[in-house]
Amino acid sequence: MIRTRHGRAEILICQDQGSLAHAAAQEVVRAAAEAVSARGRFVLAVSGGTTPAPVYDLLASHYAEAIAWDRVVLFWGDERCVPPDDPRSNYRMVRTRLLDRVPVLPSQIYRIRGEDDPMVAAAAYECALHQVLAASPGMTPQASFDLALLGLGNDGHTASLFPGYGAVREQERWVLAEEIAALGMWRVTLTPVALNRARALLFIVEGAAKAETVQRVLEGPFDPEKLPAQAIQLPSAPVRWVLDRCAAARLAVPGSPGS
Ligand code: 6PG
Repeated sequence: MIRTRHGRAEILICQDQGSLAHAAAQEVVRAAAEAVSARGRFVLAVSGGTTPAPVYDLLASHYAEAIAWDRVVLFWGDERCVPPDDPRSNYRMVRTRLLDRVPVLPSQIYRIRGEDDPMVAAAAYECALHQVLAASPGMTPQASFDLALLGLGNDGHTASLFPGYGAVREQERWVLAEEIAALGMWRVTLTPVALNRARALLFIVEGAAKAETVQRVLEGPFDPEKLPAQAIQLPSAPVRWVLDRCAAARLAVPGSPGS
């Protein structure tokens, strides 16, 4: 396993998908312990897609005893605007891989209501987020999540911040809904405003198909309109990336084939 600073990122390169899932799960366990110790709760934003599913499986099994699940407050980074039992639903994926297997309190699970009108769902989710996070009612929270998990699409999107759409440029709102023409669906997503207020951010990316995009995002010219994942930056800490060797293959880091 290689851990190294890379520009404004910190990357961890794992041998294979299995060790990547363990490394990502260990990052969650570590962040949870720190948050609960410091603030009495762990506010986590989970990612959708397929890559994090094995991580949730491990959190629900191998690492289940390592997290104080009753202290976990759960949000999503984004949602497809479909019903919660739709196979495409990020809520459904996390529920089946994690929530049906660990005792997170239902009152502390804040899903994006994909079955509702997207604009209404986005406004309701933003309101819930601010209420849960704000030190006092009506105040805009300073920090957002203790940890937000993120994936990376081949086109450089993350959460549902897609190239060519406005959400990546948003300067005020924490949550937006956009109709993504190429997908033929609406999405609700956290914006960089919300994500960049997290205490920690963790990208989880695996597979050779992502290697070129990982290299462009981490080593290429800064152009978040084309590569929205580049808009995700923390003011005073590195964004962490857990990669397998295949996804890291084009990076110029010691020990990587691309070096
Ligand atoms: C989603 C995710 C999205 C995902 C990437 C990578 O709703 O699909 O939020 O940003 O993380 O598309 O997806 P995979 O992990 O399936 O490659």
